[in-house]
Amino acid sequence: MIKSSIDTATSFEKRFENINTVVFETSFSASKAVANEIAELIRLKQTQNQLCILGLATGSSPKGLYAELVRLHREENLSFKNVIAFNLDEYYPMEPDSVNSYVRFMKAQLFDHVDILPEHYHIPDGTLEKDEIAEYCKLYEENIESYGGLDLQILGIGGNGHIGFNESGSLQNSKTRLVALDHVTRVAASGDFSGLSNTPRTAITLGVKKIMEAKRVILMAWGEGKSAIIKKSVEGEISNKVPATFLQDHNNATFVLDQGSASVLTRISTPWLVEKVVWTDKLVRKAVIGLAQDLKKPILMLTDADYIENGMSDLLADSGPAYDINIYIFNKLQNTITGWPGGKPNSDNSKRPERAEPSRKRVLIFSPHPDDDIISMGGTFKRLQEQGHDVHIAYQTSGNIAVADDEALRFASFVCDYNDKFGIDNAAAQIIYNKVIDFLKNKKSSEIDIPEVRYIKGLIRKGEARATSHFIGLDDAHIHFMELPFYETGKIEKHPIGEADITLTMDLITSIQPHQIYAAGDLADPHGTHKVCLDAIFESIKRLKTQPFMDNCWVWLYRGAWQEWAIDEIEMAVPMGPDQVLEKRHGIFKHQSQKDGVVFQGTDSREFWQRAEDRNKETAQNYHDLGLSQYAAMEAFVRWHF
Ligand code: F6R
Repeated sequence: MIKSSIDTATSFEKRFENINTVVFETSFSASKAVANEIAELIRLKQTQNQLCILGLATGSSPKGLYAELVRLHREENLSFKNVIAFNLDEYYPMEPDSVNSYVRFMKAQLFDHVDILPEHYHIPDGTLEKDEIAEYCKLYEENIESYGGLDLQILGIGGNGHIGFNESGSLQNSKTRLVALDHVTRVAASGDFSGLSNTPRTAITLGVKKIMEAKRVILMAWGEGKSAIIKKSVEGEISNKVPATFLQDHNNATFVLDQGSASVLTRISTPWLVEKVVWTDKLVRKAVIGLAQDLKKPILMLTDADYIENGMSDLLADSGPAYDINIYIFNKLQNTITGWPGGKPNSDNSKRPERAEPSRKRVLIFSPHPDDDIISMGGTFKRLQEQGHDVHIAYQTSGNIAVADDEALRFASFVCDYNDKFGIDNAAAQIIYNKVIDFLKNKKSSEIDIPEVRYIKGLIRKGEARATSHFIGLDDAHIHFMELPFYETGKIEKHPIGEADITLTMDLITSIQPHQIYAAGDLADPHGTHKVCLDAIFESIKRLKTQPFMDNCWVWLYRGAWQEWAIDEIEMAVPMGPDQVLEKRHGIFKHQSQKDGVVFQGTDSREFWQRAEDRNKETAQNYHDLGLSQYAAMEAFVRWHF
């Protein structure tokens, strides 16, 4: 077996971590490292005239890996002729050519782009009769054994710790079998199947036993959404509640993570408990706020004993007593609070998050979907406008896939009625309406909408976004609909970011020359729309940064609909009173297509306005618990330095 280039865990990590864990800067660099290990293995086997037996996974996690393997094949002559592949799982029942089949996924991501022989890859068969499955699974395992077992198994991890579709409760010696999918797994998949009711309830999965028998196992996880289950799997006890913990018993398994998925591991979230650290300002802030939160004490009530008993005695020795450190951090936190997100004119700004000058700033708010602006920073949006800044809003994508079919129908029929009523020639509108009815009547689950339906859905969201911006007080000249092309696939799966997306973004920034840019700094889902939208902004800024106007441009990141910044990260907190909370709620109500049971509800049954209010109230409560003034709600921002 070759020495893995990604095995670099050190002994201090091993004190807390029960499995070899390697953290990369990004999912991109991590995927490249895994691809390199696989490529080395394939090549080694080639020199030995042997087959290379790979266990492969589907899902979002291995996409970057497969893209890199395809690149290695195309550009660096990596051949897959000696590769035999066994996939982990397939939904049941499932036709191989269905949009959501894992057969289709593997062909699209890898097999169709490399020289693997079609008879060399195996994916569990979703078309069998139920009574054929047990025998089929036995043969699938025997087939793997006939090649001497798996040389390397690639895994992702489910939010509940599943590996393959071995859900919570699976045994360590479980066999390849038909399983029922957990509710959380089905909810995670439901977006691909246009709703939970169309999502399969069962799947065929390789058992844990065969995974454990693989000579090498690499589990990949990206994004903050996976951080909690990664901590449980790496630092927790082995338990069949979290099947990924079984890998702690494997003698050659590695977890390959990006910074998001690793973010709550002890060595990352509280490194001072693991090794001697250099106490930077950022780290002191994180440690002291974390200490106060853990002990449920206001910052100014922390004592020397609290520091000593919680692994922070060297900080106390360097910068103590506790009283001094407490005051220092308390003041820092207090200085993040401002009711003047665009800066307070004619005031000393040395301790404020934003500059006072120029007193009237040009502001450009980017909103990935048509409602992220109001959901995530509606209070700040309104304040910037009220405080006299020149505020522009840019909706980056149309958001069309999140509109229900009957809404599209309702609006198409409205247009026909409208034309009739006002004596406008209705023939063309009627043709479109009939086409839409015809299509939607026969639409199969997961079928991509025809362009007419997509446009209508996009227009519905456009109207809602415009209504919100008018409600805030903007005129049409300040509202920009970018319709970035990467989004326009009609599917959950989007195109990768392209030059056209970057050019549109650069053009808008150049035409406005903003003093402030607000962007959704959502890093939770590294493949999602928010991340691509952010990448387009980052890349545009990188290319524009030598332009003189960029010297005066500050970038503030807000979080998307799902998560908030940790208190120690927040650099600007904009408080809201009860009336402003209500006003924001009314702004969110303008998005009627996203109310009352949305297409992409996820696991959270609250409506968007409820999520926004709960989150903003929680931030304010956290500040208050730390000993700062009490506000009804707060929106939070982190500055991005380019
Ligand atoms: C896929 C599989 C699953 C996924 C897991 C993570 O073949 O067996 O265990 O690896 O659900 O999915 P993603 O990567 O989409 O988060």
